[in-house]
Amino acid sequence: MAAQDFAAKAERFIIGVMSGTSADGVDAALVAVRGSGEQLSWRLLRHETLQYSLKVRDLILGCAEGGRGDAAAICRLNVLLGELFARAAAHVAAKAGIALEGVDLIGSHGQTIQHLPAPVSITGINVRGSLQLGEPAVIAERTGITTVAQFRARDLAAGGQGSPLHSYVDFLIFRNRARGRLVLNLGGIASLTAIPASAPAERVIGFDTGPGNLVIDGLVSRLTSGREAFDHGGRYARRGTISQALLQSLLRHPYLQAPPPKSCGREEFGLPFLERILKENASVSPYDLIATATRFTADSIAVACRSFVLPHNVYEEAIVSGGGARNDYLMEQLRAAIPELSIKESDEYGLPAHAKEAVAIAILANETMLGMANNLPAATGASRPVVLGSITAGHRSR
Ligand SMILES: Nc1ncnc2c1ncn2[C@@H]1O[C@H](COP(=O)(O)OP(=O)(O)OP(=O)(O)O)[C@@H](O)[C@H]1O
Ligand SMILES: [Mg+2]
Repeated sequence: MAAQDFAAKAERFIIGVMSGTSADGVDAALVAVRGSGEQLSWRLLRHETLQYSLKVRDLILGCAEGGRGDAAAICRLNVLLGELFARAAAHVAAKAGIALEGVDLIGSHGQTIQHLPAPVSITGINVRGSLQLGEPAVIAERTGITTVAQFRARDLAAGGQGSPLHSYVDFLIFRNRARGRLVLNLGGIASLTAIPASAPAERVIGFDTGPGNLVIDGLVSRLTSGREAFDHGGRYARRGTISQALLQSLLRHPYLQAPPPKSCGREEFGLPFLERILKENASVSPYDLIATATRFTADSIAVACRSFVLPHNVYEEAIVSGGGARNDYLMEQLRAAIPELSIKESDEYGLPAHAKEAVAIAILANETMLGMANNLPAATGASRPVVLGSITAGHRSR
């Protein structure tokens, strides 16, 4: 669809496709969007999750941190994920009872394989990057729908972290005149957006606080010999006792003390981090390890709040989204770690915790098509507001 036709529509149907650091599956959300920027309004029509098969998950993790990511493997995985994302988009539209001809746009985040925002000098040139796979040409070709992808690259090129990008959307949908709000997303990585009451976008802070589910998932997978991928409802953690010695050593991770803007991924809290915990704590029981990793996740968020957020403004509540919101034990630990905040799930605000990131990508894609700057330099550290994403034209029009 041409940009001017898109802009002329009062209401646009947009599918956001998201697959995060957890590499658990693809979330697809069909959203009806009106307006843009601070005039934007939205309705979630349908959300679906398609789990990755074990084979696909293994290919992703093999490329991301398993040393099995040669150029051929990455090339093929890029196309395979494009096919799966196209299927996820078609699936959510079908479930919503809407033909693909009726969908105006797809926003696809892509599967992160490497996130390397720290500069490395190569031949005297500073190089920073983040690689997301899921070929948009395949998505546009299979669905016929214009597809926006590669959101992070432009923010990085403008000097930003390329993350967290959803802070802009958090500002649009959760800002409040009277109440200062934190928006927390507990995906593989945990991220935070801090929106003071009646603040303009320039005063919003956003950064990754550290691990979300990544360390918990890693331990559960290892300790169940791969039979389980996460701690359902936090039931394993609940059986354990927190090891204070291990907790204190985890809390010394340098990422936690580094000031924002900052973002992280499997590079900081993935396999090598997990291996070290297991090696150095062989005498700690599996349940205790999982309980301690869960408390570490909660405490690392509390450290971020106390160091960089709460001293600077008044915040009353925290709105939590992402799969980690379904881990009751983690939520309890979070409430214990930051008792001064009222901590609620985003579901209470009309946005199912699982759908949040996919909805955010749909809204970011809307802004891209309209040529609106949709990064938040105050969050990512970019030198200026930029229009994120690359547009691949579809061949359907509504
Ligand atoms: N019922 C549950 N109990 C405990 N944990 C859960 C439950 N459901 C989901 N999770 C956790 O949520 C994770 C998936 O969350 P989500 O899809 O939000 O993360 P993600 O794919 O890493 O996304 P992103 O990093 O972009 O936010 C799972 O790996 C698991 O750890
Ligand atoms: Mg996920």
